[in-house]
Amino acid sequence: MRMTVFGTGYLGATHAACMAELGHEVLGVDVDEAKIERLRRGEVPFYEPGLPEILLRHVESGRLRFTTGYAEAAEFADLHFIGVGTPQRKGEFAADTSHVEDVVRRLVPLLTSDAVLVGKSTVPVGTAARLQTIADAGVRDGVRAAVVWNPEFLREGFAVKDTLTPDRIVIGLAGGEGGGGVRAGVGAALADFGPAGRLVEEAYAPILQADPCPVIVTDLATAELVKVSANAFLATKISFINAVSEVCEAAGADVTVLADAIGMDPRIGRRFLGAGLGFGGGCLPKDIRAFMARAGELGADEAMTFLREVDSINMRRRQKMVDLATEACDGMLIGKTIAVLGAAFKPDSDDVRDSPALNVAGMLSLKGASAVVYDPQALDNARALFPTLTYASSALEACEGADVVLVATEWPEFVALDPAAVTAVARGRILLDGRNCMPAQEWREAGWTYRALGRGVPAS
Ligand code: UGA
Repeated sequence: MRMTVFGTGYLGATHAACMAELGHEVLGVDVDEAKIERLRRGEVPFYEPGLPEILLRHVESGRLRFTTGYAEAAEFADLHFIGVGTPQRKGEFAADTSHVEDVVRRLVPLLTSDAVLVGKSTVPVGTAARLQTIADAGVRDGVRAAVVWNPEFLREGFAVKDTLTPDRIVIGLAGGEGGGGVRAGVGAALADFGPAGRLVEEAYAPILQADPCPVIVTDLATAELVKVSANAFLATKISFINAVSEVCEAAGADVTVLADAIGMDPRIGRRFLGAGLGFGGGCLPKDIRAFMARAGELGADEAMTFLREVDSINMRRRQKMVDLATEACDGMLIGKTIAVLGAAFKPDSDDVRDSPALNVAGMLSLKGASAVVYDPQALDNARALFPTLTYASSALEACEGADVVLVATEWPEFVALDPAAVTAVARGRILLDGRNCMPAQEWREAGWTYRALGRGVPAS
């Protein structure tokens, strides 16, 4: 089957490569010439484990191609996925949907036969309906461009696996497409939902045949809301444990043991109860803000005000980390050297968008400390965002002469650091664990003072 994917970022490039892996012929489209050039050479412009192999394989097989040409894309297929970014608007909470709108505005006049536009980007509820209006106004006479919403739940670092073996597939269709209203239901046969549903079903058929997962067919608004609600829930879960973490610090309790204990209740579950520096990245922070903004526009602002608290609990963790570091430096950061291990917003990623790690490094530096940052994958992105910080080329190099070692991203290589090797190069003996990931006992036995967020247990 032929299809295009607009946008070649973390979402679009992964989707394009995975669709080729499923046997389809895919054309990836982006406005960024330089990015397209690299992709054509089979290079992934960001770090995503497993993606380079499948991308290269299908660029070489010819099943995956890339272009900046909209006319070529319109000509190539009747099924067009849209996976462009919807960042936070500058100075506002709302999401900027202009890139999604631009794709539709530019593509639809070029269509010469009926087509389906499948949105995958995370958008405020109501966007798909607006895009349908834009599409209707822009298409040639006699051509129909149907907008479908198919939110993506992939996590960076696991993007390939999440795309090829999803937990569920959610498809939002406009009312008319179902032929008299859209029925919602798990396992609904998409083919029952008119031509748009049939095309989407064909695209995902290899996944559904190999390892069936629930398919939820619904209206456009519900599909859009499923995605933002999922991210808001995950953010809330993290901030819940981080709020409890604040109480643990005050009471001398241990949030990690507490999380293990409450996580054993299957109604709660241990995942996303990782207390520490909190959430960052290009999704959770901006999605909860966009959700609040959209709820406000819809007159349901009170419903989402708790997300303000979720946001501020999350941001407080970064300040708390700086406070811990200041305390470890006897109240004065000026002249102190702090090794910051981690720059990416999470391990297995080179993404530094709203990264708690870099944010902490920046705050430490503003307060007069020399923050020396190391990350296995995100150094280039970190340097571009915070050029004034000092960067090291290995964890041990970052720890050279450090008064304090601060772990800000839980990369396995940091967890596996040998305390003796760090002892040989560092000046101080204080380890601050921003992700509750380090083997505390091992470090204590090596003579280190171990402090972590949410563990008010007296330091040894
Ligand atoms: C998130 C969602 O998990 C995906 O389902 C969604 O598709 C994606 O956003 C998106 O909207 O595109 P992602 O941003 O890749 O995925 O990262 P997560 O794994 O969700 O982690 C987000 C942040 O929360 C990271 O900074 C991580 O360190 C932090 N986190 C996660 C915690 O602080 N504690 C935890 O227990 C788990």
